[in-house]
Amino acid sequence: MRTHLRSVVASWRNQSPAIRLIRFWLGVTWIYGGWDKATDPGFLGKTSTTSISKQLIGYSKSSPLGFLFRHMIERSTAIGVMVMILEFAIGIATLLWIAPTMTAFVGFTMSLGLWIAVTWHVKPYFLGSDTAYAVLWLAYFLHLVGKRRKIDVSLDRRGAIRIGAVGVAAIAAMLVGRGAQKSAAGTSTGSGSTSGKQLIKLADFPVGQTHEFSTPDGQPAIVFRTKNGVFAYSEVCTHQGCTVAYSPADKALLCPCHGAAYDPFNSAAVLGGPTNTPLSSVKVAISGAWVVLV
Ligand code: FES
Repeated sequence: MRTHLRSVVASWRNQSPAIRLIRFWLGVTWIYGGWDKATDPGFLGKTSTTSISKQLIGYSKSSPLGFLFRHMIERSTAIGVMVMILEFAIGIATLLWIAPTMTAFVGFTMSLGLWIAVTWHVKPYFLGSDTAYAVLWLAYFLHLVGKRRKIDVSLDRRGAIRIGAVGVAAIAAMLVGRGAQKSAAGTSTGSGSTSGKQLIKLADFPVGQTHEFSTPDGQPAIVFRTKNGVFAYSEVCTHQGCTVAYSPADKALLCPCHGAAYDPFNSAAVLGGPTNTPLSSVKVAISGAWVVLV
């Protein structure tokens, strides 16, 4: 343990400031990626716009390797858990100098996979972050290989124990995140049901207008009032989660990040852009003098 601590400190000390920066950024970002998913109440579900299930459905339609993702949809929960653990493990191993070359290579292949799955259609390409991360991982990997002059994949007993410890730490981090998310959900449930929550008075909301609000889980949403009644959608883009906005001139919900467009008058169907998944609908109704959540 003490020997490894010494080698972690030495690994940071012996690297140039540029490589330290890349290593730190990649490690922290991968841990944050795992934490962000672990604490997202909708990630392992089926209905949230951020759920792994909906993401896989989107990838199956938009990725050039869509047939692979189609097979994963029915195992979305297991795949979501694996992704969380892998992200934590890569981040922890990168920061703690455990199997660094192998970890950098896995990080590179993961970014490459995300590029093919998620940002393949992003134009121009530099708006998608996965290509940049793939290049960062590849540069870091080549730096490590260059130092050793060969790729060392041999594993002694200590190395195997360290990799096992990273796996345990990654699972523990995921469980802590899920626990934190559940207790936060429990606290908000304890404060009362959100069904029936008043959004806006009808008197302040004429036909033809829109009104933005937050869903009970804090996501931005927008309600429309037409002569036929009211309907609402989440404003979280199904591509990479930016917030869409309604453009009355285009009669569409537009995403400022990569140009996705949705038709609010046709179940938020996709009109264009790098996604095939409509926005999630939010149930609303008119109750007395108010528009309310159902
Ligand atoms: S986040 Fe990419 S189009 Fe909306």
